[in-house]
Amino acid sequence: MKQYSKRMVIAHWLTLGLLVLAWYLGDSLSDSTDESRATLFGYVIHVSAGIAVLLLIAMRLLFRSKDGVPPAIGHAAMDRLAKGVHHTLYLLLLVVPITGILTVLRSSVAKALLSGDANMLPKAHGFHGLLVHSLHGTLVNVLIAVVVVHVLGALKHQFIDKDNLLERMMLRRK
Ligand code: HEM
Ligand code: HEM
Repeated sequence: MKQYSKRMVIAHWLTLGLLVLAWYLGDSLSDSTDESRATLFGYVIHVSAGIAVLLLIAMRLLFRSKDGVPPAIGHAAMDRLAKGVHHTLYLLLLVVPITGILTVLRSSVAKALLSGDANMLPKAHGFHGLLVHSLHGTLVNVLIAVVVVHVLGALKHQFIDKDNLLERMMLRRK
Protein backbone atom coordinates (compact mmCIF):
# COMPACT_ATOMS: atom_id res chain seq x y z
CA MET A 1 0.00 0.00 0.00
CA LYS A 2 1.63 3.25 -1.20
CA GLN A 3 -1.19 5.75 -0.67
CA TYR A 4 -4.21 6.32 1.57
CA SER A 5 -7.45 4.87 0.17
CA LYS A 6 -9.55 7.24 -1.96
CA ARG A 7 -12.25 7.61 0.70
CA MET A 8 -9.59 8.43 3.33
CA VAL A 9 -8.18 11.12 1.01
CA ILE A 10 -11.62 12.65 0.38
CA ALA A 11 -12.41 12.62 4.13
CA HIS A 12 -9.00 14.25 4.91
CA TRP A 13 -9.53 17.25 2.61
CA LEU A 14 -13.23 17.53 3.49
CA THR A 15 -12.23 17.74 7.18
CA LEU A 16 -9.92 20.67 6.35
CA GLY A 17 -12.78 22.53 4.59
CA LEU A 18 -15.35 21.84 7.33
CA LEU A 19 -12.91 22.76 10.06
CA VAL A 20 -12.17 26.17 8.52
CA LEU A 21 -15.93 26.75 8.18
CA ALA A 22 -16.76 25.65 11.77
CA TRP A 23 -13.89 27.77 13.14
CA TYR A 24 -14.93 30.89 11.21
CA LEU A 25 -18.62 30.43 12.15
CA GLY A 26 -17.73 29.79 15.84
CA ASP A 27 -15.67 32.96 16.01
CA SER A 28 -18.41 35.10 14.40
CA LEU A 29 -21.00 33.51 16.71
CA SER A 30 -18.93 34.32 19.77
CA ASP A 31 -18.53 37.96 18.60
CA SER A 32 -22.26 38.35 17.96
CA THR A 33 -23.15 36.78 21.35
CA ASP A 34 -20.83 39.31 23.04
CA GLU A 35 -22.70 42.08 21.22
CA SER A 36 -26.07 40.48 22.20
CA ARG A 37 -27.10 40.10 18.56
CA ALA A 38 -26.67 36.33 18.03
CA THR A 39 -29.49 34.64 16.11
CA LEU A 40 -30.96 31.14 16.22
CA PHE A 41 -29.76 30.73 12.62
CA GLY A 42 -26.20 31.62 13.66
CA TYR A 43 -26.26 28.84 16.26
CA VAL A 44 -27.90 26.35 13.88
CA ILE A 45 -25.25 26.76 11.18
CA HIS A 46 -22.29 26.59 13.58
CA VAL A 47 -23.78 23.55 15.33
CA SER A 48 -24.46 21.87 11.94
CA ALA A 49 -20.90 22.47 10.68
CA GLY A 50 -19.48 21.19 14.00
CA ILE A 51 -21.65 18.07 14.03
CA ALA A 52 -20.66 17.42 10.38
CA VAL A 53 -16.99 17.41 11.53
CA LEU A 54 -17.85 14.90 14.27
CA LEU A 55 -19.69 12.56 11.87
CA LEU A 56 -16.92 12.82 9.29
CA ILE A 57 -14.27 11.89 11.86
CA ALA A 58 -16.30 8.89 13.05
CA MET A 59 -16.56 7.70 9.41
CA ARG A 60 -12.87 8.40 8.83
CA LEU A 61 -11.85 6.26 11.82
CA LEU A 62 -14.04 3.47 10.46
CA PHE A 63 -12.46 3.75 6.96
CA ARG A 64 -9.00 3.80 8.59
CA SER A 65 -9.60 0.56 10.47
CA LYS A 66 -10.97 -1.14 7.31
CA ASP A 67 -8.57 0.26 4.64
CA GLY A 68 -5.35 0.52 6.70
CA VAL A 69 -2.63 3.18 6.24
CA PRO A 70 0.56 3.25 4.15
CA PRO A 71 3.76 2.30 6.05
CA ALA A 72 5.75 5.01 7.84
CA ILE A 73 8.66 6.64 6.00
CA GLY A 74 11.59 8.61 7.43
CA HIS A 75 13.45 8.33 10.72
CA ALA A 76 11.99 6.34 13.61
CA ALA A 77 11.86 9.39 15.93
CA MET A 78 10.15 11.59 13.30
CA ASP A 79 7.70 8.79 12.50
CA ARG A 80 6.78 8.55 16.17
CA LEU A 81 6.27 12.33 16.28
CA ALA A 82 4.07 12.26 13.15
CA LYS A 83 2.02 9.39 14.60
CA GLY A 84 1.59 11.31 17.88
CA VAL A 85 0.44 14.40 15.96
CA HIS A 86 -2.07 12.35 13.92
CA HIS A 87 -3.51 10.67 17.02
CA THR A 88 -3.75 14.03 18.83
CA LEU A 89 -5.59 15.49 15.81
CA TYR A 90 -8.11 12.63 15.81
CA LEU A 91 -8.66 12.99 19.56
CA LEU A 92 -9.17 16.78 19.32
CA LEU A 93 -11.50 16.41 16.34
CA LEU A 94 -13.71 14.22 18.55
CA VAL A 95 -13.42 16.21 21.79
CA VAL A 96 -13.93 19.72 20.28
CA PRO A 97 -17.41 18.96 18.83
CA ILE A 98 -18.36 17.04 22.02
CA THR A 99 -17.51 20.07 24.20
CA GLY A 100 -19.56 22.16 21.73
CA ILE A 101 -22.56 19.85 22.16
CA LEU A 102 -22.17 20.02 25.96
CA THR A 103 -22.03 23.85 25.77
CA VAL A 104 -25.39 23.83 23.99
CA LEU A 105 -26.91 21.34 26.47
CA ARG A 106 -25.58 23.08 29.61
CA SER A 107 -26.64 26.61 28.56
CA SER A 108 -29.87 28.31 27.50
CA VAL A 109 -28.99 27.64 23.82
CA ALA A 110 -30.71 24.21 23.88
CA LYS A 111 -33.95 25.72 25.29
CA ALA A 112 -33.81 28.60 22.78
CA LEU A 113 -33.34 26.19 19.86
CA LEU A 114 -36.09 23.82 21.03
CA SER A 115 -38.62 26.60 21.64
CA GLY A 116 -37.51 28.67 18.61
CA ASP A 117 -37.29 31.71 20.92
CA ALA A 118 -34.21 33.84 20.13
CA ASN A 119 -34.79 35.94 23.29
CA MET A 120 -33.63 32.96 25.34
CA LEU A 121 -30.18 32.93 23.70
CA PRO A 122 -27.24 33.91 25.93
CA LYS A 123 -26.47 37.64 25.88
CA ALA A 124 -23.04 39.27 26.49
CA HIS A 125 -21.02 37.09 28.92
CA GLY A 126 -23.99 34.70 28.92
CA PHE A 127 -21.68 31.69 29.11
CA HIS A 128 -19.74 33.20 32.00
CA GLY A 129 -18.57 30.50 34.39
CA LEU A 130 -19.57 27.62 32.09
CA LEU A 131 -16.40 25.53 32.14
CA VAL A 132 -17.27 23.46 29.09
CA HIS A 133 -17.65 26.67 27.01
CA SER A 134 -14.15 27.88 27.95
CA LEU A 135 -12.86 24.36 27.30
CA HIS A 136 -14.46 24.37 23.82
CA GLY A 137 -12.76 27.68 22.91
CA THR A 138 -9.39 26.62 24.40
CA LEU A 139 -9.38 23.20 22.68
CA VAL A 140 -10.15 24.85 19.32
CA ASN A 141 -6.97 26.92 19.79
CA VAL A 142 -4.98 23.80 20.72
CA LEU A 143 -6.39 22.06 17.61
CA ILE A 144 -5.33 24.96 15.36
CA ALA A 145 -1.81 24.89 16.89
CA VAL A 146 -1.49 21.11 16.28
CA VAL A 147 -2.78 21.56 12.69
CA VAL A 148 -0.04 24.18 12.13
CA VAL A 149 2.63 21.69 13.34
CA HIS A 150 1.08 19.02 11.05
CA VAL A 151 1.12 21.32 8.01
CA LEU A 152 4.72 22.42 8.74
CA GLY A 153 5.66 18.70 8.84
CA ALA A 154 3.97 18.13 5.46
CA LEU A 155 5.80 21.17 3.99
CA LYS A 156 9.13 19.90 5.37
CA HIS A 157 8.57 16.59 3.60
CA GLN A 158 7.61 18.32 0.38
CA PHE A 159 10.28 21.02 0.13
CA ILE A 160 13.21 19.90 2.35
CA ASP A 161 13.15 16.09 2.27
CA LYS A 162 11.59 16.19 -1.23
CA ASP A 163 10.12 12.70 -0.68
CA ASN A 164 6.72 13.59 -2.17
CA LEU A 165 4.83 12.43 0.95
CA LEU A 166 1.88 14.60 -0.14
CA GLU A 167 1.18 12.10 -2.98
CA ARG A 168 0.00 9.65 -0.28
CA MET A 169 -2.86 12.01 0.54
CA MET A 170 -3.85 12.70 -3.10
CA LEU A 171 -6.58 11.16 -5.24
CA ARG A 172 -4.29 10.56 -8.24
CA ARG A 173 -3.22 6.90 -8.04
CA LYS A 174 0.38 5.93 -8.84
C1 HEM B 1 -14.64 20.98 14.96
C2 HEM B 1 -15.78 21.55 15.27
C3 HEM B 1 -15.94 22.89 15.91
C4 HEM B 1 -15.12 24.00 15.86
C5 HEM B 1 -13.81 24.17 15.11
C6 HEM B 1 -15.75 25.01 16.68
C7 HEM B 1 -15.24 26.28 16.88
C8 HEM B 1 -15.75 27.22 17.74
C9 HEM B 1 -15.16 28.51 18.03
C10 HEM B 1 -13.86 29.06 17.42
C11 HEM B 1 -15.96 29.13 18.95
C12 HEM B 1 -15.74 30.50 19.59
C13 HEM B 1 -15.06 30.28 20.91
C14 HEM B 1 -14.81 31.56 21.66
O1 HEM B 1 -14.27 32.51 21.08
O2 HEM B 1 -15.17 31.62 22.84
C15 HEM B 1 -17.08 28.25 19.21
C16 HEM B 1 -18.12 28.53 20.07
C17 HEM B 1 -19.22 27.73 20.26
N1 HEM B 1 -19.44 26.49 19.68
FE1 HEM B 1 -18.19 25.51 18.46
N2 HEM B 1 -16.91 24.51 17.22
C18 HEM B 1 -17.07 23.22 16.76
C19 HEM B 1 -18.13 22.37 17.03
C20 HEM B 1 -19.25 22.72 17.75
C21 HEM B 1 -20.42 21.87 17.95
C22 HEM B 1 -20.59 20.45 17.39
C23 HEM B 1 -21.29 22.58 18.72
C24 HEM B 1 -22.66 22.20 19.24
C25 HEM B 1 -23.38 21.17 18.86
C26 HEM B 1 -20.70 23.87 19.02
C27 HEM B 1 -21.27 24.85 19.79
C28 HEM B 1 -20.67 26.04 20.11
C29 HEM B 1 -21.27 27.03 20.99
C30 HEM B 1 -22.64 26.93 21.68
C31 HEM B 1 -20.36 28.07 21.10
C32 HEM B 1 -20.50 29.36 21.91
C33 HEM B 1 -20.81 30.51 21.05
C34 HEM B 1 -20.63 31.79 21.81
O3 HEM B 1 -19.63 31.97 22.53
O4 HEM B 1 -21.51 32.62 21.67
N3 HEM B 1 -19.45 23.92 18.41
N4 HEM B 1 -16.93 27.10 18.48
C1 HEM C 1 -2.87 22.22 4.06
C2 HEM C 1 -3.23 21.40 5.02
C3 HEM C 1 -2.81 19.95 5.14
C4 HEM C 1 -1.83 19.24 4.49
C5 HEM C 1 -0.85 19.72 3.43
C6 HEM C 1 -1.88 17.88 5.00
C7 HEM C 1 -1.09 16.84 4.58
C8 HEM C 1 -1.15 15.54 5.04
C9 HEM C 1 -0.37 14.43 4.53
C10 HEM C 1 0.66 14.52 3.42
C11 HEM C 1 -0.71 13.34 5.24
C12 HEM C 1 -0.13 11.92 5.07
C13 HEM C 1 0.94 11.69 6.10
C14 HEM C 1 1.59 10.34 5.95
O1 HEM C 1 1.45 9.70 4.93
O2 HEM C 1 2.26 9.93 6.91
C15 HEM C 1 -1.70 13.73 6.22
C16 HEM C 1 -2.28 12.90 7.16
C17 HEM C 1 -3.16 13.30 8.13
N1 HEM C 1 -3.73 14.56 8.23
FE1 HEM C 1 -3.31 16.17 7.09
N2 HEM C 1 -2.86 17.82 5.97
C18 HEM C 1 -3.45 19.05 6.07
C19 HEM C 1 -4.49 19.41 6.90
C20 HEM C 1 -5.01 18.59 7.87
C21 HEM C 1 -6.03 18.98 8.80
C22 HEM C 1 -6.72 20.36 8.86
C23 HEM C 1 -6.27 17.91 9.61
C24 HEM C 1 -7.23 17.76 10.74
C25 HEM C 1 -7.52 18.68 11.59
C26 HEM C 1 -5.39 16.85 9.18
C27 HEM C 1 -5.32 15.60 9.77
C28 HEM C 1 -4.55 14.56 9.33
C29 HEM C 1 -4.51 13.25 9.97
C30 HEM C 1 -5.29 12.84 11.22
C31 HEM C 1 -3.64 12.47 9.20
C32 HEM C 1 -3.28 11.01 9.47
C33 HEM C 1 -4.10 10.11 8.60
C34 HEM C 1 -4.11 8.70 9.15
O3 HEM C 1 -3.04 8.07 9.25
O4 HEM C 1 -5.22 8.24 9.47
N3 HEM C 1 -4.66 17.29 8.12
N4 HEM C 1 -1.97 15.08 6.06
